[in-house]
Amino acid sequence: MPDWLKPGWLLGLFALIFIFLLAFTYEQTRERIAIQEQLRLEAQLKEILVAGSYDNEPATDVLEIEGDKRTVYRARLQGQPVAALFKTVAKDGYSGSINLLVGIKPNGELLGVRALAHRETPGLGDEIDLRRSDWVLDFAGRSLRNPMPDDWAVKKDGGVFDAFTGATITPRAVVGEVKKTLIYFQAHQHELFQ
Ligand SMILES: Cc1cc2nc3c(=O)[nH]c(=O)nc-3n(C[C@H](O)[C@H](O)[C@H](O)COP(=O)(O)O)c2cc1C
Repeated sequence: MPDWLKPGWLLGLFALIFIFLLAFTYEQTRERIAIQEQLRLEAQLKEILVAGSYDNEPATDVLEIEGDKRTVYRARLQGQPVAALFKTVAKDGYSGSINLLVGIKPNGELLGVRALAHRETPGLGDEIDLRRSDWVLDFAGRSLRNPMPDDWAVKKDGGVFDAFTGATITPRAVVGEVKKTLIYFQAHQHELFQ
């Protein structure tokens, strides 16, 4: 090999080693992140579900609803439906999307609601976060009969749900998405557990 070619070969070799190391690290990290996300999801589902009320693994009993951007986790007891837990998105938060978990019992009653991820303003819109306030706990036990659909709104819009001081946009978005999820559940309940 002529002398002038040697640096090129060396450089190529180093580049190859570097690419290999990068790919290897990425693969390792990706796997670990996926495991962490799955564990986090399991914990979040457990937070809404009543312990002992189901005997399957809801985190792996998944239904992806195409085109609807909703994922449903199903809880069952001896094969019978116990709850549908929707991972859904309120798109009209103050700072964009708010990822929600909405748990619904077969009778259409809410088991619970949690904000999974959001970028609402600390001190204004972040009261949807259970670490900041217990506002989301007001949803448990509610349904499209409690209150009736027309009253599924924040008080400022004539509904029954509290807003936050100086921040109506965030709770309006969450109440709206929870209501939409309840309506979706009512219309598709029978397909959801097949
Ligand atoms: C810097 C800044 C951040 C804000 N963040 C939020 C927020 O996270 N959530 C929210 O609902 N409103 C937020 N607001 C207030 C909204 O602009 C709006 O005034 C408020 O939601 C009240 O809405 P309403 O007039 O419909 O009641 C913020 C306002 C400012 C100036």
